[in-house]
Amino acid sequence: SRTVRRNADGAVTVGGLDVRALAEEFGTPAYFLDEEDFRARSRAWRDAFGPDADVFYAGKAFLSRAVVRWLHEEGLNLDVCSGGELATALSAGMPAERIALHGNNKSTEEITRAVEAGVGRIVLDSFQEIVRVAHIAEKLGKRQRVQIRVTVGVEAHTHEFIATAHEDQKFGIALAGGQAAEAVRRALKLDGLELIGIHSHIGSQIFDMAGFEVSARRVVQLLTEVRDEHGIELPEIDLGGGLGIAYTSEDDPREPHEIAKALNEIVTKECEAAGLAVPRLSVEPGRAIVGPTAFTLYEVGTVKELEGLRTYVSVDGGMSDNIRTALYDAEYSVALVSRTSDAEPMLSRVVGKHCESGDIVVRDAFLPADVAPGDLLAVPATGAYCRSMASNYNHALRPPVVAVKDGAARVIVRRETEEDLLRLDVG
Ligand code: LLP
Repeated sequence: SRTVRRNADGAVTVGGLDVRALAEEFGTPAYFLDEEDFRARSRAWRDAFGPDADVFYAGKAFLSRAVVRWLHEEGLNLDVCSGGELATALSAGMPAERIALHGNNKSTEEITRAVEAGVGRIVLDSFQEIVRVAHIAEKLGKRQRVQIRVTVGVEAHTHEFIATAHEDQKFGIALAGGQAAEAVRRALKLDGLELIGIHSHIGSQIFDMAGFEVSARRVVQLLTEVRDEHGIELPEIDLGGGLGIAYTSEDDPREPHEIAKALNEIVTKECEAAGLAVPRLSVEPGRAIVGPTAFTLYEVGTVKELEGLRTYVSVDGGMSDNIRTALYDAEYSVALVSRTSDAEPMLSRVVGKHCESGDIVVRDAFLPADVAPGDLLAVPATGAYCRSMASNYNHALRPPVVAVKDGAARVIVRRETEEDLLRLDVG
C-alpha cells in the first residue's frame, strides 16, 4: 500500500496504524485492505475507459458487502458468477441492472433468480444455456439482455499469449468452425433473449497487450459477420478481465489507461475498417483492482534452520488463506514488519501450519537470520483470489478482512469461529 511506513522503533505502520496493534486487535492471520486504494483503483478504471464504456469488477477476486457498496459509490458495475455472489451483490444494494451473471454451468435457480432480479446481462456460455435462459425468461414474461461468450483462439498467460489449442477449454463457444455464428443465429430467434453483444475473456495475470488486441480484432470480425448475415449491428462488446499486477518487484504491470487506450484504438480501427458503428465496450478487471490493495499479516510460530540449505519459517496460516502458491506456483514477497533487524539475510521459505509439505506461502524469500517466534510477517498483494479461495482445510478458521481507512480499521468480513464450523456439522 502507498501508506506503509516504519515507526521510530522499526515496526511498520499502515495508514498510520502500527501492525503490532493491528495484530493485537484483530489477531493473525488476517487480511488488511486499504479502502482508499481500492476506491482509487476503481476510479482509475472508470476514468480510463470513460463514460462510453462500462467497468465490471469481477467479484470472484474478492467480494463482500462493503466492497459492493464501494463499487456502487465509485460508479462501477459488478460481474458475479454464482448465486452466492449475486445474493451478496443484491443484499448490499447493487442495482440489478449493473450486475452481469457469468458461469459455464449456471443452475436453473441461479438463472431464475438473476432474471427475476433484472440483472443487466447474462453471459451465455453454451448452446444449452441459450435455450435455458430463453425459456426461463419467457416463463417469467421477460426479455433478458444477454451476451454470448466466445473463445477467440487466444490464450494469454502473463508475459505471452498462445494462439493455438485455445478452444480446448470448458468456457465459451468457439469462433472457429462457425460455432459462435451459429450461437448468434439461435439466440436471435428466441423471444426471451435480447442479444446485446459478444464477450471474450482470454486469461489472467496478463502483461502483454497483444493478446487483448487479437481478441478485440476477432470479436469485431464476428460483429461484422453478424451484420452481413442478419443486417443488425450488436451494440456491445466485453473484452473480459485479466490485467496482471505486481506480485514481486520483477513484475511490471500495465496501467488501466494503457489497456483502455490499446483496446479503444484497436476496436475503433477495426470497426472503421468494417464500416461498423463502434460498440459500447466493457471490461471485467478483478485482480488489478483488489489485488494490490491488501496484505496478509501472519505471526511466526516456529523456525527450522537447515544449515547450508534454507530456513523454514512457519506462520499461523498457509494454504487455507492463500492457495495460490501451492496451486499455481505463484510468487509472493514477504517482509518482517514488527521490527527492523540488522541480521544477515537468510534464504527462507515461509510455510503454513497445514498437514502437507506443499503448504507454502512464499517459496523463496530472504528474511533476517534472527526471525523468531512472535515476529510478524506481511505478504503483500493478497487482495485477489486469497480470501475468495480460502478453505477450511484442517478445520482452519478463515481469516477476517479488515478495511483500513483514515487511520481507522474495521472488520468487513469477520474471522470464522469454531461455532461457525460446528453449526454446519449436523450429524
Ligand atoms: N471475467 C471473466 C469471465 C473471468 O473468468 C475472470 C477471471 C475475470 C473476468 C477476472 O480476471 P482478473 O482481472 O481478476 O484476472 N484464481 C485465479 C484466477 C482465475 C480467474 C478466473 N477468471 C488466480 O488466483 O490467479
